[in-house]
Amino acid sequence: MSDKITIAEARKPEAIGRDVLLQGWVRTRRDSKGGFSFIELNDGSSMGSIQVVAPGELENYESVVKHLTAGSSIGVRGKVKESPGKGQATEVEAQAVTLYGTADPETYVLQKKRHSFEFLRTIAHLRPRTNTFGAIARVRNCVCRSIHDFFQEEGFLYIHTPIITASDCEGAGEMFQVTTLKLDDVPKKEGKVDFEQDFFDRPSYLTVSGQLEGEIFACALGKIYTFGPTFRAENSNTSRHLAEFWMVEPEMAFYELPDNMDLAERFLKRIFRDVLDRCPEDMEFFNDRIDKTVLETLQGIIASDFIRLPYTDAVDILTASGQKFEFPVSWGADLQAEHERFLTEQHFKCPVILYDYPRTIKPFYMKCNDDGKTVRAMDVLVPKVGEIIGGSQREERLDVLTDRMGEQGLEPEGYWWYLDLRRYGTVPHSGFGLGLERVIQFLTGMGNIRDVIPFPRTPGSAEF
Ligand code: 4AD
Ligand code: MG
Repeated sequence: MSDKITIAEARKPEAIGRDVLLQGWVRTRRDSKGGFSFIELNDGSSMGSIQVVAPGELENYESVVKHLTAGSSIGVRGKVKESPGKGQATEVEAQAVTLYGTADPETYVLQKKRHSFEFLRTIAHLRPRTNTFGAIARVRNCVCRSIHDFFQEEGFLYIHTPIITASDCEGAGEMFQVTTLKLDDVPKKEGKVDFEQDFFDRPSYLTVSGQLEGEIFACALGKIYTFGPTFRAENSNTSRHLAEFWMVEPEMAFYELPDNMDLAERFLKRIFRDVLDRCPEDMEFFNDRIDKTVLETLQGIIASDFIRLPYTDAVDILTASGQKFEFPVSWGADLQAEHERFLTEQHFKCPVILYDYPRTIKPFYMKCNDDGKTVRAMDVLVPKVGEIIGGSQREERLDVLTDRMGEQGLEPEGYWWYLDLRRYGTVPHSGFGLGLERVIQFLTGMGNIRDVIPFPRTPGSAEF
């Protein structure tokens, strides 16, 4: 019996001499004059394919092997041999080839030709078979593993926060409503929609962040993290925004802002190091084909400290820069992507943690500084992608928090449980949110966030 192994395993020199069964999809077939064929076979276990040498003696050589086309699925039994060819350690000499499914070359679009990423988005069901999307899937998997490894090793508890919620954590009103009411026959009471007849007896939404529920658990169990899908109905058609994205949110009792920054920096460096160690072939590919600077940038980041800079100083740097920006810079205004990019790409040339933002542009839950003007917010900015992490120390003083809610037009009644955390055994605590797709964009150099999630949800697009 031959062992069923992956092509990634069969490509290693240790596999030489083994009798194996490989199963995958044909990338190319080339017939040699000597009466045999070379088949490049890929199964997604690694970027590289394996070369299968199919001798003319195979019983189905004329009927099957010689007609194999790109995209067909086959099984190959054979022996792993040392490859005489350059750039590959091994190849497989086939003793039997089984055809599972053909792919008509007249209609199968993934032939040798390279397609644009825009086109590949229209065939999201086939794009995982390309080199780029296979590599992204493997890197994404590696990042997720690294996230769990990091927090588990640090003693954090993994908590599942709800997807359906009644509270708007970010207070930005960018929520998708969840309802079972019939949109063409909405029940009304005193002229308004009667949500008491809705499934949850109140307006409810898809979550924009698991933070508020994360705080509940941190204020009981110490250090926790939540990691799941989040939803934002912001109608921004940019290369960095999705309507559905994944966010990792650690929340820590007894952490102040500097502790939060230290954790964020160690966390990012750990993810980058793991991806360089575990996905070298995929990362080489991104460095060759997508962005020639990714490897050097990542190695540089791992080896150096992030800059930590108050928002006010950033505004001074930007104003003094003499740089022409599309959006003007002034104290109190949110920084735009162009400003963030100037700081990380031109001025500091490394990741920057900006902190102490104006209180008027940040959500109600952030701790107010004594200056009365700023809050203990922090954003981690990286070259090209901009904001990758957003977080803060949380306001733990009941009176200040209630005032802040008033300032931002929020009804404290709806947040009674959140306020209870400040009524009973309140503690300083902090946390942050890392956008998974933004990290993957940064790691791979991919320009558009729609290409680093398997099935992107953006305005007007939810087909696959
Ligand atoms: O800065 P944000 O809005 O922070 C929060 O939601 C906090 N409640 C997190 C916390 O403190 N627990 O979002 C956090 C990160 C951003 O820095 C960004 O990386 C990502 O989530 N993000 C998005 N990614 C893709 N598409 C979008 N529309 C995103 N909005 C935010
Ligand atoms: Mg943010």
